Amino acid sequence: MTPVLEARGLIRDYSVTGGLFRKAQNVRALNGISFSVEQGKTLAVVGESGCGKSTLARIITLIDPATGGELLIDGQPIDIGVERLPSEMRQKVQIVFQNPYGSLNPRQKVGDMLMEPLLLNTSDTAAERREKAMAMLTKVGLLPEHFSRYPHMFSGGQRQRLAIARALMVNPRLLVLDEPVSALDLSVQAQVLNLLADLQEEFNLTYVFISHDLSVVRYIADEVMVMYKGEVVEYGSRDAVFGNPQHEYTRTLFAATPVTDLAAIRARVERRRAAGLGVQVA
Ligand SMILES: Nc1ncnc2c1ncn2[C@@H]1O[C@H](COP(=O)(O)OP(=O)(O)OP(=O)(O)O)[C@@H](O)[C@H]1O
Ligand SMILES: [Mg+2]
Repeated sequence: MTPVLEARGLIRDYSVTGGLFRKAQNVRALNGISFSVEQGKTLAVVGESGCGKSTLARIITLIDPATGGELLIDGQPIDIGVERLPSEMRQKVQIVFQNPYGSLNPRQKVGDMLMEPLLLNTSDTAAERREKAMAMLTKVGLLPEHFSRYPHMFSGGQRQRLAIARALMVNPRLLVLDEPVSALDLSVQAQVLNLLADLQEEFNLTYVFISHDLSVVRYIADEVMVMYKGEVVEYGSRDAVFGNPQHEYTRTLFAATPVTDLAAIRARVERRRAAGLGVQVA
């Protein structure tokens, strides 16, 4: 099967100005990153702060250009060296950030925010756009009456649901989630993770999930890629990476991370499934 996303040897250099008397320096944030993700699967990307996770996220969502390497979406090579790619290409890969409030326009009503990409990119009528946006609100566990509210009227968890809804409006091939639950309370984290799992199952979605929280990664990942200083130091199935980490850095990372959260999240998930509850609004 052709992977939804394949990266080959991605490189990204940043030029950092050196101040008055120093020359501009090149910082290599990504140094040859290769991986692939199959449809319906989740690749988790972990690694310490500054190792290049968000840089990678911005390249694979076609927000920033790469310095080198290749990217293929559904087997089709993408010209990732250029600044601005056509919007129909960028729609294929959507991103959800850690802080949903920063990425939601405070002056735009929820309904308009959800309908906007349809207005720009489809020939849907106003009635069709409205209907699709309403349906998406319900899909992410929100209510039809939320349609005419503003982002500040929502809780953090609800805002993250809105960000997910907006990302899904254009039927992306891939969703990149950059620390999507890190800013939320534990119980709300579990709800949003459950929502992502439900949506993945329903729509056969493909995720690249960036997180520094190994208990979250253990819960959602099919495959795990560990990055260290712009390079991949470990890459394999979740069970292989967690069960038998090969690289010294991965072992250190795992040893430094408390795993108590995992039990709490699992317990909530189990209780919710046992009670046959749908997605709750957090
Ligand atoms: N626009 C930029 N200009 C210059 N250097 C940058 C830029 N963006 C990132 N960097 C550098 O590239 C490296 C990787 O940064 P990146 O934001 O990708 O890390 P990260 O893994 O997402 O970290 P965190 O876990 O803290 O979010 C860092 O050394 C950072 O300082
Ligand atoms: Mg980051």
